[in-house]
Amino acid sequence: MKTTLLALAAAAGTAVAQNAAYSQCGGQNWTGSTTCVAGYSCVAQNAYYSQCVPSSSSTTAATSKTSTSSSSTKASTPATTSTKATSATTTTTKTTSTAASTPASTGHVQYAGVNIAGFDFGCGTDGTCTTSSVVPPGANGNGQMNHFVKDDGLNAFRLPVGWQYLVNNNLGGTLDATNFANYDALVQGCLSSGAALCIIDVHNYARWNGAIIGQGGPTNAQFVSLWSQLATKYATNSKIAFGIMNEPHDLTISTWAATVQAVVTAIRQAGATSQKILLPGTQYTSAAAFISDGSAAALNTVTNPDGTTTNLIFDVHQYLDSDNSGTHSNCVTNNSASFTTLAQWLRQNGRQAILTETGGGPSDSSCLTDVCQELDTLNTNSDVYLGWIGWGAGSFDTSYVLSETPTVSGSTYTDQKLVTQCIAGKFKK
Ligand SMILES: *[C@@H]1O[C@H](CO)[C@@H](O)[C@H](O)[C@H]1NC(C)=O
Ligand SMILES: *[C@@H]1O[C@H](CO)[C@@H](O)[C@H](O)[C@H]1NC(C)=O
Repeated sequence: MKTTLLALAAAAGTAVAQNAAYSQCGGQNWTGSTTCVAGYSCVAQNAYYSQCVPSSSSTTAATSKTSTSSSSTKASTPATTSTKATSATTTTTKTTSTAASTPASTGHVQYAGVNIAGFDFGCGTDGTCTTSSVVPPGANGNGQMNHFVKDDGLNAFRLPVGWQYLVNNNLGGTLDATNFANYDALVQGCLSSGAALCIIDVHNYARWNGAIIGQGGPTNAQFVSLWSQLATKYATNSKIAFGIMNEPHDLTISTWAATVQAVVTAIRQAGATSQKILLPGTQYTSAAAFISDGSAAALNTVTNPDGTTTNLIFDVHQYLDSDNSGTHSNCVTNNSASFTTLAQWLRQNGRQAILTETGGGPSDSSCLTDVCQELDTLNTNSDVYLGWIGWGAGSFDTSYVLSETPTVSGSTYTDQKLVTQCIAGKFKK
């Protein structure tokens, strides 16, 4: 798709005026030149806007697809040493082919933590969120975050919430004062826990009551309205990250990327000019499918208003059970090969990702092995993976199949084995 657009732009651009760096060069109703000054290529950001961006990055992107597929065989080689060797080689190549935008792997990610769920309870994959089913994590959630930071050294929490709850079922409306205050108490609890990253997560599967945003359901403007308000509230806090949407699925990815672009633009225009924004792909934003389902290529076109991709981070999820659904207590794979392949794509395209949902049976031996190995792989590729957030704690009972909720006795918290050994155990600062 991207390659085709580049080719078209180049073919159409003979003997006409050249557009300056980062200026518009195409899009719906565009009648001007589609040619860019030397060193820049015209790349579609969405259906309405194409922009002159540095050619080096797009050339690297185009060639990287070939090298990713050819080297992915090597990537699945089991030995840890050869994985490291592959990373080192790729990094060297990148440095010579394009301006380095990611540092070398340090061997340990920057962020690790747990999802603090509850404000999303009642949300289904069709984007229906029954607000009466919400169970605010409240003091328990804040206590858990304090414990995870103080006793486990964790530093990142994701705070899921249903869109309907935030606007009290009024699509396109203003934030409901009472409901938002309840949710904000959790956000403030995260910020005061000492965490380095607190992720606002709208948990609606790209939908509102069964209909897809920008694809027959809510308009982009209605979704943008939600995010403009949230970004305005948190614009001044650098520890806040904006998780645009939990697990989009069964939609047209190129159209979804245009929706994501509209939200990114709105968040930046609301004054949140530099915080991290997490961009989710389709197929429940599966890390293993991120390249093959077109999410990586489509979301790679989303930019900040200034044309950069600074702090636009890909948001991926991965479960390790037989159908990647996160509904079984046992694990069947560490998904190391998929994460290594995605790491190569990210590196070659100068991008980064964060794993905001993963997990397994909290004391199942297969999951203790596989989740820990999965996180080892993220550590190995810490130049392109910012970190991981386990699913889930908050209002989940300690008996929930993927529970990462600690048991509390007085002021003593006892963690699930999966948290002790993997989620916290693999996090080294
Ligand atoms: C393109 O023109 C149509 C018809 O005038 C208009 O409805 C639409 O908004 C225009 N698109 C843009 C991006 O300006
Ligand atoms: C992941 O599992 C495969 C297959 O069992 C194994 O070869 C590989 O070493 C594991 N990865 C890590 C990082 O342990």
